[in-house]
Amino acid sequence: MKFHVLGAVSGLALVASGAALAGPEAEVLHWWTSGGEAKSVAVLQEEFAANGGTWTDMPVAGGGGDAAMTALRARVLSGNAPTAVQLKGPAIQEWYEEGVLADISAVAEAEGWADVLPASIAGHMKCEGTWCAAPVNVHRVDWIWANADVLEANGIAMPSSWAEFNAAAEKLQAAGIIPLAHGGQAWQDATVFEAVALGILGADGFHKAFVELDEATLKSDGMKAVFDQMRTLRGFVDPNFPGRDWNLATAMVMNGEAAFQIMGDWAKGEFLAAGKAPGEDFLCASTPGDGFLYNVDSFAMFAVDGAEKEAGQQLLAKLIVGKNFQKVFNLNKGSIPARVDVALDEFDSCAHLSASDMAASSEGGSLLPSYAHGMALRGAQAGAITDVVTAHFNSDMSSEDAVQQLVTAVANSM
Ligand code: BGC
Repeated sequence: MKFHVLGAVSGLALVASGAALAGPEAEVLHWWTSGGEAKSVAVLQEEFAANGGTWTDMPVAGGGGDAAMTALRARVLSGNAPTAVQLKGPAIQEWYEEGVLADISAVAEAEGWADVLPASIAGHMKCEGTWCAAPVNVHRVDWIWANADVLEANGIAMPSSWAEFNAAAEKLQAAGIIPLAHGGQAWQDATVFEAVALGILGADGFHKAFVELDEATLKSDGMKAVFDQMRTLRGFVDPNFPGRDWNLATAMVMNGEAAFQIMGDWAKGEFLAAGKAPGEDFLCASTPGDGFLYNVDSFAMFAVDGAEKEAGQQLLAKLIVGKNFQKVFNLNKGSIPARVDVALDEFDSCAHLSASDMAASSEGGSLLPSYAHGMALRGAQAGAITDVVTAHFNSDMSSEDAVQQLVTAVANSM
């Protein structure tokens, strides 16, 4: 009893002194602002609050995260980095090399991350042997989404080759339906381009082009064929595509204005948030060709001062890789868990397809990092490729000129 009273008294003293009682804090920079994305990030906010944390939200709208990364650079340059940042792929190591990331190895080791994450994912989270980021999920990029009723009404099956896709698109166009919902933003052009490239170049060709930056592959006939297919796809989008956000393109498929969208499975998060069911309202299939383009969302912690902020970073890192969070978050986000020990019973057929294709492609050597989503290359090289892709898509540039420009742009970016 005596101890109890003493405890209460010292508790009061702490309340009076204010800061000493403050719990974990985090200012979190992310770009999850669409319907499905906001629902997903709310899961993390709620878990953080339930564990005593105070979350300051710093959302920077803009699919693919280009605007968020610009905002991040400004904050770091002004000496005021956010506590936690949605960051992925080689950008993690690029920031580490600038000496601004916090080491989260203590949490990773205490939580046994090495035992529950596939080596391919863990590799992206490490900086010179230390843990410098926490993975949230595995998004797949090479997907086609379709409106089930529109396909049925027009006697069209999900295409399994680009020739079938083109034939279906012509039929839909003749019926007055927009074949391909697309948003004309550079990162969306790049998303479509890399899915086409995987199908046409194959897994080895993709690796040579977008991981090794092999010049012969960049200017190959195969790459010309990729640009030819991009030109064909350009003919299947509606005139209002420039600047359109990706989730508005998804909405066009939902409401039957358009038949298909080529987009990563964050699009599934939009369908689900709108109450649509896979297999009934919408269909999913991998884009034609073998392989799997992965895009792992993760959070890196920036070096900041203050015990509350450091506690916030540790709590966040722990929650992010936590088993329950990985399930609930990914059910909303459209992705699959990064952890290997989360049961998928509550996940839908698209997620099951993703998980089995990921395992098969990992076995077969065709599990590949997405270049368009910052998993394969450093920013300068990825940006150089995307500039050419988007310049080609938005002009009448020939495929020959496009491959020539690709070679030059990549060489200049080194
Ligand atoms: C991210 C996703 C996000 C998408 C659209 C991707 O680069 O990995 O989490 O939903 O961009 O903003």
